[in-house]
Amino acid sequence: MLLLWVSVVAVSSALAAPAPGTGAQRRGAAGAPNVVLVVSDSFDGRLTFHPGSQVVKLPFINLMKAHGTSFLNAYTNSPICCPSRAAMWSGLFTHLTESWNNFKGLDPNYTTWMDVMEKHGYRTQKFGKLDYTSGHHSISNRVEAWTRDVAFLLRQEGRPMVNLIRNKTKVRVMEKDWKNTDKAINWLKTEAINYTEPFVLYLGLNLPHPYPSPSSGENFGSSTFHTSLYWLERVSRDAIKIPKWLPLSEMHPVDYYSSYTKNCTGKFTEKEIKNIRAFYYAMCAETDAMLGEIILALRQLDLLQKTIVIYFSDHGELAMEHRQFYKMSMYEASVHVPLLIMGPGIKANQQVSNVVSLVDIYPTMLGKKSHIEISLLIYCYWEYKLIQIF
Ligand SMILES: *[C@@H]1O[C@H](CO)[C@@H](O)[C@H](O)[C@H]1NC(C)=O
Ligand SMILES: *[C@@H]1O[C@H](CO)[C@@H](O)[C@H](O)[C@H]1NC(C)=O
Ligand SMILES: *[C@@H]1O[C@H](CO)[C@@H](O)[C@H](O)[C@H]1NC(C)=O
Ligand SMILES: *[C@@H]1O[C@H](CO)[C@@H](O)[C@H](O)[C@H]1NC(C)=O
Repeated sequence: MLLLWVSVVAVSSALAAPAPGTGAQRRGAAGAPNVVLVVSDSFDGRLTFHPGSQVVKLPFINLMKAHGTSFLNAYTNSPICCPSRAAMWSGLFTHLTESWNNFKGLDPNYTTWMDVMEKHGYRTQKFGKLDYTSGHHSISNRVEAWTRDVAFLLRQEGRPMVNLIRNKTKVRVMEKDWKNTDKAINWLKTEAINYTEPFVLYLGLNLPHPYPSPSSGENFGSSTFHTSLYWLERVSRDAIKIPKWLPLSEMHPVDYYSSYTKNCTGKFTEKEIKNIRAFYYAMCAETDAMLGEIILALRQLDLLQKTIVIYFSDHGELAMEHRQFYKMSMYEASVHVPLLIMGPGIKANQQVSNVVSLVDIYPTMLGKKSHIEISLLIYCYWEYKLIQIF
């Protein structure tokens, strides 16, 4: 309660005295900075601050931390792809989108923040993974995520495992993501560079989501943590913690059920668990490198000074904590997401501990004043309001 009150005071004083040069009356996009969003999948937010940050080298996330503002308590609104993304694109909580699983998201004609920005004069472009509308994934996704208690889906996932690529120096392991990164950079170089209006670019990455495991039988899922030595070398094995597990008999039935359907109730050696975690962190390093390519391209094109860069993820990854992998759980590894923002008007080297979530992205993009955390985000840390429409 006290925290809320303090927040309100902070917001009202910020409202009463807007920083000079904020363009508070501005309508429409003219003169506003560009916005580039890099959005990954399954990235455990705890890796972006101490002590999680010790386990893997993430040079571009560190760069964003140094030159921008990072949120230490950013959470997903639902720890699974579609529901999380539906909340982020709509600014609505899950009980309002009624997107409970990967089958149902937003209607394809839903007006997202990007549509609103486009209407107000921004050029917009999206590349890569979106996953926020209805009808994707399989029909089984209607029931599997939270209520797997149906015979044909029991233990549908393969056991989590690692797969090391033979080529030691392979950089582009997740080729599809790299291709989308290249496309985004090419768009910056050939299109965005010539725009007189500001632009909004969205790049959706699939990493560090585990890869499909077709060798695991008919109902295989994505249980393979896959990388090359090139990325594994960024991981400090000694810093990897082995999570403590309860004996199976003492697990809460819900956790046991999750663990069971994720094929994690068998025996795992400590080495196996450490490997899975190391491979996952290596996949996070590859994700960071793609974020880096975008930042470097912006710099090379002289756009970095007038572009707000935002990085976040749809949810986290348990990576064998609580005897599980994947997400679909309210434990920290699954719900804590990274959120970093840098660019003109955003404080450098600033760490914010207020709780924020992915629904805050929508009003933040639109400069709407309502929710406390959103307001904090906008009025305390954003000198620029992207557009003033509310
Ligand atoms: C969007 O599409 C849905 C069907 O998918 C329809 O019911 C709804 O009326 C449409 N909304 C608008 C604003 O066009
Ligand atoms: C667990 O995964 C392994 C291989 O990954 C698979 O062979 C096995 O059938 C799975 N177990 C169950 C009960 O589904
Ligand atoms: C290994 O990967 C590197 C970097 O991606 C590449 O240049 C090289 O050709 C690959 N080697 C083989 C044998 O595929
Ligand atoms: C963008 O501008 C450059 C010169 O600055 C020009 O060479 C190029 O053709 C332009 N591209 C487009 C797509 O208009």
